[in-house]
Amino acid sequence: MSLSSYFTIPLFLCLSSLHLVSPFPSFGGQIDYDYNYNYNYYERSCPRLRMIVQNGVWAAFKTDTRIAASLLRLHFHDCFVNGCDASILLDDTIDFRGEKNAFPNRNSARGYEVIDSIKADVEQACPSTVSCVDILTLAARESVILSGGPYYPLSFGRKDGFTASEKAANEQLPSPIEPLENITAKFTSKGLDMKDVVVLSGAHTIGFAQCFTFKRRLFDFKGTGKPDPTLESSALANLQGMCPNKDASNRNLAPLDSASTYRFDNAYYVNLVNGTGLLESDQALMRDPKTSAIVTAYSSNSYLFSADFASSMTKLSNLVFPTINNIAQVVRFHVHEQTSPNLFSYFVIIAFFLLMSLHRLACGGGRHPSPGFEGDSDDLGGHGSHDFPKTGGGSDD
Ligand code: HEM
Repeated sequence: MSLSSYFTIPLFLCLSSLHLVSPFPSFGGQIDYDYNYNYNYYERSCPRLRMIVQNGVWAAFKTDTRIAASLLRLHFHDCFVNGCDASILLDDTIDFRGEKNAFPNRNSARGYEVIDSIKADVEQACPSTVSCVDILTLAARESVILSGGPYYPLSFGRKDGFTASEKAANEQLPSPIEPLENITAKFTSKGLDMKDVVVLSGAHTIGFAQCFTFKRRLFDFKGTGKPDPTLESSALANLQGMCPNKDASNRNLAPLDSASTYRFDNAYYVNLVNGTGLLESDQALMRDPKTSAIVTAYSSNSYLFSADFASSMTKLSNLVFPTINNIAQVVRFHVHEQTSPNLFSYFVIIAFFLLMSLHRLACGGGRHPSPGFEGDSDDLGGHGSHDFPKTGGGSDD
């Protein structure tokens, strides 16, 4: 084998294993559902995945019951900004300011360390195999189930993003004080619809909100100097006690569903019917006749809510924005950093070939290739063992 082929073969392997269909990232493209996903993706490459994630969520839940809500929200905030790609987990770099510090996430999004710890366990069991985004997606589902909510089917094979944008997060995530029409428009721009807005808002059946996110309802609603007239009077008094009209109370917490804060049930909708919804954006669902009809239906039929929540969560979990990252089939090595095991492996492979070439030149070789090298080149062909089986016969779990 000539010296040049030592370089051309690995280079060819590197490029071909990237599966690039286009040299240009398709930023600005339409969000797709089920982009190359597979229900059995990890069946052979990481069969214990669901159990590992379940254990991680349960362990965290034992000491912090709120974590279920926080992981569910973390997943929503990841998927809603340019698709599910675990970009919310990325720390800022010199190249970009990430989503972590965007206004809706800073001092608000929680659960990062739980994903870190689950990723570490998953890496031990199945090195360089499972994407951070698939872990986050699974952790959110386990959180829902652990809180008493429905199971929903998930397919896997999401690719980790290698960039994140604070600006995109600020622009795309819904605000609790923006009009319902704006919120609905944000959802429809992702291929979700008005029913998804109503049913996914039902996630506010668990978890907490900081006082500053709804405080204007309590004291000076839209500059009237009075509380929000749609807020039921005893709930108002209660919330005024939790969130006194001083800046010092801004970070105090109030339950999003005071009737059953940690239980995933339909009480959130009963609260809305009774005028005790916490966020302005929650209670606004009662103002529009179309959304209020759905709220009323869920308030009286918890099975309907569970079934609809499950199917909307599957939709949310499949939001993918096709970028160069998810076309290139990459799994992030570290939760917070951009490091990809693929890129690292490519570097190691090229360095290996370079060293072998130098070694052979130094030893006057070239006529007797080492048997070890021949063997390794086969391994190279199989490089990308973290490109998992594409087919299989079982369920996603
Ligand atoms: C429809 C528009 C939505 C708005 C305006 C909104 C807004 C908010 C706000 C302001 C908070 C409190 C954050 C804080 O105080 O730090 C919150 C909490 C939460 N949100 Fe939403 N949200 C929306 C939709 C969703 C969706 C679709 C989900 C999940 C599918 C979700 C899940 C949660 C959860 C579980 C919490 C509690 C988190 C915790 O306790 O750590 N939200 N949301």
